[in-house]
Amino acid sequence: MAEGDESAPPTSEMAEPSLQRTLIKSIVSSSAAAAAEELVGRRVVVGGWVKTGREQGKGTFAFLELNDGSCLANLQVIVDAKVHPLSELVPTGTCVLVEGELKKPPEGTKQRIELRVDKVLALGPVDSKYPLPKTRLTLENLREVVHLRARTNTISAVARIRDELAYGTHTFFRKNGFRYVHTPIITTSDCEGAGEMFQVTTLFSLAEKTEKELKQNPPPSESEVEAAKVLVKEKGEAVAQLKSSKASKEEISASVAELTKAKENLSRLEERFKLKPGIPRKDDGGIAFENDFFKRQAFLTVSGQLQVETYACALGNVYTFGPTFRAENSHTSRHLAEFWMVEPEMAFANLQDDMNYAESYVKFLCQWLLDHCLEDMEFMVKNYDKTAIERLKLVASVPFEHISYTKAVQLLKNVTDKEFENKVEWGIDLASEHERYLTEVIFKKPVIVYNYPKGIKAFYMRLNDDQKTVAAMDVLVPKVGELIGGSQREERIDVLKSRILESGLPLEPYEWYLDLRRYGTVKHCGFGLGFERMIMFATGLDNIRDVIPFPRYPGKADL
Ligand code: 4AD
Ligand code: MG
Repeated sequence: MAEGDESAPPTSEMAEPSLQRTLIKSIVSSSAAAAAEELVGRRVVVGGWVKTGREQGKGTFAFLELNDGSCLANLQVIVDAKVHPLSELVPTGTCVLVEGELKKPPEGTKQRIELRVDKVLALGPVDSKYPLPKTRLTLENLREVVHLRARTNTISAVARIRDELAYGTHTFFRKNGFRYVHTPIITTSDCEGAGEMFQVTTLFSLAEKTEKELKQNPPPSESEVEAAKVLVKEKGEAVAQLKSSKASKEEISASVAELTKAKENLSRLEERFKLKPGIPRKDDGGIAFENDFFKRQAFLTVSGQLQVETYACALGNVYTFGPTFRAENSHTSRHLAEFWMVEPEMAFANLQDDMNYAESYVKFLCQWLLDHCLEDMEFMVKNYDKTAIERLKLVASVPFEHISYTKAVQLLKNVTDKEFENKVEWGIDLASEHERYLTEVIFKKPVIVYNYPKGIKAFYMRLNDDQKTVAAMDVLVPKVGELIGGSQREERIDVLKSRILESGLPLEPYEWYLDLRRYGTVKHCGFGLGFERMIMFATGLDNIRDVIPFPRYPGKADL
């Protein structure tokens, strides 16, 4: 195109060429070790954030340790003062996109390869307020900078482990013929029947809006409404009169138009007259949820199980994997208000199948991490939990212990070397201290406890012949205690109905769930794996708030 060509687009209309860069992982990771020799001499563009930077040789050049999040390791980058002012590059946190040649470092240095920069293509500076100093902050302090903490070695390693576990999960279920189903996040059913649900409502914002509006534009008085009614009546009479006196078409339609206008005005006034500040109430004082967004109460889901059962009873083996929410006011290191759950559901399957699937899934995930995430796992071992890799190897290889709840209670009652805070009696819900004692001290491996008392479990679990226990199972693992909760589902409609009522729940909201038993019922089972608990188990990190990118717990919902 000739210069000054009128038809040439302005340069601002043209897309910038893409920022092609090489991931640091492909240059420095251990799997690239053999290739390091071949990389020498190659020209590359890399981008990342400076972990540490230092000027050397009396300010003639600088070493930058650059990390781009593709792996744990940094790339050593050398920039000459002639290429770019060094003081702009060395502060921790600075973002750079640089181009240069890969070189073999001098003998005796720990790097296998380094980058000699000859062009700084882009720079994202930091000022002295950058909240992540070179010295390590505690994980607790990092929770206060949740928007920047992914720049740290620990949180980025956890993010990669989390991602691998998600990919491993989809791989496992796909290999085993399961279909992935998306269950709703907004629900009108309380799956666990525990009433620990966050409500989804627009009533508050609606009430605020109405209050504001009424202040700016006060509602009509009763007499204004009355006057509008009188006007409608008069206009109606006028139309009737014109019709009976056989007035012209034009006259009648003009009069009808006036009547319509008066009617519209009346209905607008009547509607505004009804507007009241505050949450809409029914006559008995209760909240009028029919005015809410869904015209009924709605909540954030505590589990996708009930909905995924509808697909299991059509497609066979399915699973859902999504966020779940619990409004329990617990401040423990193992509970979140928002967490992710993996929930498979199997048709034509019983409690034994449920336990088998749970065991092979957990084993698969452990092996998956050993195969795909060793570098990050080694970092965890070095910095947080010496036994993390051993634990993965153990769990991937040894058969899980299976014991009934009754047996577990017996074993715990016989414990003499430890005083439990919660007394052990048949019928109690096992506390975390009991669960961890079983798996960490007595068996030293994962334990599946099954057949729990019906009184402590949800209504949908299948009642056993003893009429006292249900076909439930929990998988307990060292480090976290309960990792998985599952059960065979009650497929007998009459038993299910009485279990719903016995649990103090109304039947009506569960009619659709009962339909699954009314029409072509099938033995089926499923379980839920707490995804963050799995990450805690894998990494050895002690607090669940550090294994989810944006933790939500009482008093905390940053970003
Ligand atoms: O045992 P839970 O409550 O089981 C269910 O929700 C079933 N509907 C699952 C099913 O059968 N499809 O929860 C399952 C798992 C627990 O074992 C635990 O690992 C995790 O979810 N979990 C939590 N994780 C983090 N924070 C919380 N508040 C959690 N509550 C449960
Ligand atoms: Mg449970």
